Amino acid sequence: MKLIIDTDPGVDDALAIAMAVAMPEIELLGLTTVFGNTFTYQSSRNARYLLNLFGGDCPVAEGATLPYGATTYDPADEVHGPEGLGAMATVPDIGRNHAEGAAAFLVRMAQENSGELVVCAIGPLTNIADALKLDPAFASNLKELVIMGGAFEVPGNITPLAEANIFHDAPAADAVFASDLRIVMVGLNATMQTLLTPENFVDMSKSAPKVGGFLREIHEFYLGFYRSVGVMDGCPMHDSTALLACIAPEQFTFQTSGLRVICTGDAIGQTVADASRPPVRIATGVAATWAVAQAMAQVATYD
Ligand code: RIB
Ligand code: CA
Repeated sequence: MKLIIDTDPGVDDALAIAMAVAMPEIELLGLTTVFGNTFTYQSSRNARYLLNLFGGDCPVAEGATLPYGATTYDPADEVHGPEGLGAMATVPDIGRNHAEGAAAFLVRMAQENSGELVVCAIGPLTNIADALKLDPAFASNLKELVIMGGAFEVPGNITPLAEANIFHDAPAADAVFASDLRIVMVGLNATMQTLLTPENFVDMSKSAPKVGGFLREIHEFYLGFYRSVGVMDGCPMHDSTALLACIAPEQFTFQTSGLRVICTGDAIGQTVADASRPPVRIATGVAATWAVAQAMAQVATYD
């Protein structure tokens, strides 16, 4: 599978990227970066650092720095850490960003791999909306867009009604759901079922001391956030679950509905059914034990 991951790394993004690099069935053609867990420059730097650590080799194309209609954006440090990778106070700036911006890179790669390229978007959808504006054929060229985002008739995580990736750029997400892209939405309906525990991370660090040890370290901060809000003694593998939906949709259950995003008021970022919109496959369930085992097994392939 030819894959590009659009990402705001981000602690759980890091695990998804490690899995994508490790999986033989994935040909990772690039990472495109966006604000969300971090500022965009941090996302790009972190993406290049993670690829170097995981032994990946693909372009990192930097994307949007602001949500649609916004003049400022300020990441919430308390969830993913001051530099986006847990407690890491500094992240080495390795290599350089790709010459093209994210939207231009996405459009060109979809043209050159028409009908074959899958994009897994695990941050706000600004780059995807930009690609749709840049090339009207982007929707038809792309095989599928799999997003980590949304909460369909279940509680949100950044507000009672909204999931963070959608909330961080509601207008962009609404434009994506209004498009003719073939979309799979892997939202909190599924990702809140795939929980990693502190013991899972201890096991990762034992099976792969370098990479597993790194993932355990950066997830300590993320686990601390979830403990602090009393949600659980563990953390959902949000982004990795979306990645797994790219390669093994048979492990998920889906319902289909057109969607729109509330873009004003207290419900901003809520994903709601809209029968006038093109159908989206919404993941309603996942083989959670299988998904966690996949994450453990892919990390164990590292040193
Ligand atoms: O709501 C979870 C999503 O928001 C994940 O993609 C996480 O990385 C954050 O971006
Ligand atoms: Ca993310």
